[in-house]
Amino acid sequence: MKKIIATGKGGVGKTTTLTTVSLLMAREGKKVIVFDTDPSMNLALSFGIPYDSVSTITEDKHDISHELEDNGISESGKQILEDHSVVTPDGIRIVIMGAIQHGGDGCLCSAISVIKMLLDYVEENGGYDIAIVDSQAGPEILGRGLAAKFDCNVVLSEPTAKSSEVSRQVKKLADDLGVKDTILIVNKADSPSDVSFTAQMVGIEPYKATGIMFDRDVVMADREGKLLADAYPDSAALADLKKAKSMIETAIGW
Ligand SMILES: Nc1ncnc2c1ncn2[C@@H]1O[C@H](COP(=O)(O)OP(=O)(O)OP(=O)(O)O)[C@@H](O)[C@H]1O
Ligand SMILES: [Mg+2]
Repeated sequence: MKKIIATGKGGVGKTTTLTTVSLLMAREGKKVIVFDTDPSMNLALSFGIPYDSVSTITEDKHDISHELEDNGISESGKQILEDHSVVTPDGIRIVIMGAIQHGGDGCLCSAISVIKMLLDYVEENGGYDIAIVDSQAGPEILGRGLAAKFDCNVVLSEPTAKSSEVSRQVKKLADDLGVKDTILIVNKADSPSDVSFTAQMVGIEPYKATGIMFDRDVVMADREGKLLADAYPDSAALADLKKAKSMIETAIGW
């Protein structure tokens, strides 16, 4: 099973990219599991899954930790997965980590460690071709070691100095964790020079970088609560996302 994560500053297009890439992979017959580890659960929403329709890991963290203490992940992994995920009409299983429940609840460390165990569990038992992790903005998730030894870090960036700086930081952290490869997707890019500028700032070879243009169709699909690939199949952004998907597939050796 291949494992990839998308990282980068807030709002750079991690969820938009992973939603489309996972959908296209599933429609080509791949068995795809997605871990939505962003507390705002945008990825689940992109697939039309309402916030309250599935119980999240953070909601049930006490029960889950007792279950894991008593029985271990190999006994309880299947049930924890089934209770905290949904399957989309295209067969993508989405595991939802969930939000912090109450002010003062502390960090998401315990929920992230459950996600790590579930990743190991599905790698051993799941029969999936690929696990895709959508992360919250910034380097936090990598600081907690979630992506150790993943196959690819898909760094998203806008073509600005500030966005590139966050991307440079997350690339370094992923490298520290032994992530095998990194590609850069420069989103909301309007010219090839946006891609080359950002690649240089982030420290990635230009051949491992690709762009997605700013496209109103992405905004409209978002507003309409539809998948870009279904609502706007001829959009320029979708064509760019297909190129990004090919670059990811090359990076993971497909
Ligand atoms: N190429 C694009 N053209 C126009 N709008 C875009 C494009 N890519 C993403 N967007 C819009 O930008 C916003 C942020 O995108 P998205 O949610 O994918 O970013 P994110 O990195 O996942 O954000 P967060 O850090 O909050 O999780 C969304 O409203 C999305 O519709
Ligand atoms: Mg997101």
